[in-house]
Parts: sequence; structure tokens; C-alpha cells
Amino acid sequence: MEHVESVGVDDMDDEHHECVNAINNLILERSLAALQDVLGAVSDHFEHEENLLSEHLYHDCDDMNSAEGGFNAFASMKRSHFQDHKRIIAALEAAVASVSRPGVDVHEKGFINNEIITAIKKDFEEHTSRYDSTYAASLPEAISKVKA
Ligand SMILES: [Fe+2]
Repeated sequence: MEHVESVGVDDMDDEHHECVNAINNLILERSLAALQDVLGAVSDHFEHEENLLSEHLYHDCDDMNSAEGGFNAFASMKRSHFQDHKRIIAALEAAVASVSRPGVDVHEKGFINNEIITAIKKDFEEHTSRYDSTYAASLPEAISKVKA
């Protein structure tokens, strides 16, 4: 799997890199341990990304309407973006649960099937191109204002 295009924030780029490395390792090893590593890397990343976005970009948008009563595009984006994180974590947890059984050797290679791996790869690729690319223009700017 190829690396994600830069979103202009080093921490997020590094974490995207770690997630892709974990997925590539899963593609190679196909072990439960590798699948658990993907879940760990992706959940840590989503948590950091949500904190950063809430602080710098999606603040003051806890409901769908802005103070002026108009439609708040950021609130809508926050809701669908974070919802997609939840969906992906739930799918990864379900994948882990589906192959975890007593006595299983978590390091056994070749153990995770193609269907699970293809779905994980697709979820991550679609998420980063659909949602993360949308903050690449605005998040770095919002963060630099705070630092200035
Ligand atoms: Fe995201």
C-alpha cells in the first residue's frame, strides 16, 4: 500500500506513515498480532487527529447551526469525519474478534484472509482521500496562527 499524501502537519503525516506501515506489515505477515498492531496504530492516530481538529478547526461547531443560524459546514464535516473513524475502528475490532479464539497463536503467519485485508486497506485509503485531504489546506494554517 502506498503512503498517504502529506496533510501539511508533521505529526499527522508521521502517524499516517505508521498506519500504512502497520497495514503493509499485515499484508506481509497476515498474523493476528499484525492485525492488532493495525488497530493500535489506527486508533491512536484517530484519537490524536480528532483532538487536533477539534482544537484548531472544528471548534464551536457542536451543533449543525452556526451562531447566525446558518448551516455550519465545519459541523457537518466534523460529524461525518469522526463518524467514519468510528466505523473503521468498529470494523477493525470486528476483524480482530472474528479471528480471535482460545489457543490461537497470534504470531502465526498467513492466518488472516484476503477479504479482511482488502477491506482494511480500502477503508484506510478511502478515508484519507475523502476526509483527511480536506483539512490539508486549513489545519496547518490554523495551527500556525496559534504558534505565531
Ligand atoms: Fe481522519
